[in-house]
Amino acid sequence: MKHLITNIKELIGINSNPILIGSEMKELHTIKNAYLLIEDGLIADFGEMTALSETDYDKVTDASTSHVLPAWCDSHTHIVYAGNREQEFVDRINGLTYEEIANRGGGILNSAKKLQETDEEELYRQSAVRLEEVMQMGTGAIEIKSGYGLTTEAELKMLRVIKRLKENYPVTIKATFLGAHAIPAEYGKKRDKYIDLLIEEMLPQIADQKLADYIDVFCETGYFTVDETIKLMQAGKEYGLKSKLHVNQFTAIGGIRAAVEHGALSVDHLEVLLPEDIEMLTKGATIPVALPSCSYFLSIPYTPARELIDAQLPLALATDYNPGSTPSGNMNFVVATACIKMKLTPEEAINAATINGAAAMELSQTHGSIAKGKVANFIFTKDIPSYGYLPYSFGSNHIAQVMLQGEFI
Ligand code: NIG
Ligand code: FE
Repeated sequence: MKHLITNIKELIGINSNPILIGSEMKELHTIKNAYLLIEDGLIADFGEMTALSETDYDKVTDASTSHVLPAWCDSHTHIVYAGNREQEFVDRINGLTYEEIANRGGGILNSAKKLQETDEEELYRQSAVRLEEVMQMGTGAIEIKSGYGLTTEAELKMLRVIKRLKENYPVTIKATFLGAHAIPAEYGKKRDKYIDLLIEEMLPQIADQKLADYIDVFCETGYFTVDETIKLMQAGKEYGLKSKLHVNQFTAIGGIRAAVEHGALSVDHLEVLLPEDIEMLTKGATIPVALPSCSYFLSIPYTPARELIDAQLPLALATDYNPGSTPSGNMNFVVATACIKMKLTPEEAINAATINGAAAMELSQTHGSIAKGKVANFIFTKDIPSYGYLPYSFGSNHIAQVMLQGEFI
């Protein structure tokens, strides 16, 4: 099946680098008045309209009112969860902090209780609604974490739901095991027993059933220590799982050094960064990932993304879609907020949300840019003046259509 898209106002994000580093992120290559040829769900060809040679196509679509860019690559989400935490949102408005709510048994443990009480079918149904929602907002590849189960049974349930979503939707999904998201209340005084459960009981079953691509740990004061994080990264590695870590969200306790030294794929959050953390990142290949919607929702600092890019590091942007700190999976808002609050240029923000997001999921050979052979995942915009209008005119929906694996969804 050959599908030709003609007269594209501007084709955006032409690039065959697997990741863009520092000042490279400023460049966003485009072709005005372009065509795009899609064959069997992949990009077969593209170029200027004037270079299009006459041949037969099965289908032709005129895109003369659209800018076309790669679908978003959201490398950090927790979209499999049960219910919501709307009450905690109101509690925060009334003066409690995220930390105070967590200390009262709210937060992650509240979501874990709800998830444990929800059957697998219902959990799948609620999660599929969120996945469909983010696809409509332009997301074509997504990472989804477990971590609201916190028992072997419930963590496996979450990961099976992710597997089913993978099988049933035309979106590329990577699964991450985040059993180390919080210490369940019943392990309060014997946290080592919970770490043993993660390593000796959960990990082997997850690996055996091939339910995860990565392992994650919430390395943070009050959650998991640096030593525990290292232990879990090493255990994951024995089962072939690289790590993607939650670090430096509220405090800088040394998680970044551990991540770089143990070859983590990404370090995510980074709202609180010390100069030595940035220095450490420049020595390794670990990708920093910023989550501006989380900063927005919790009123915590924004990741100093400008400093990271100016230190010649790559940066990826993701949503962190979850019930507690970021009940939003809108990558368009993430891109706009990165420009408005973190001083990224539109080019840097789009690159961070596409090719660098793909790199943070090891998907940049197939996703995240316009290049021959890559998966035909695109956002077709409404009739806007330029791609910079996407973050400028924040909060509006500028997407006319989304194409995933060569089909409009
Ligand atoms: O990425 N920081 C840890 N985990 C999630 C939020 C957890 C929650 O509140 O449910 C995050 O922000
Ligand atoms: Fe998260």
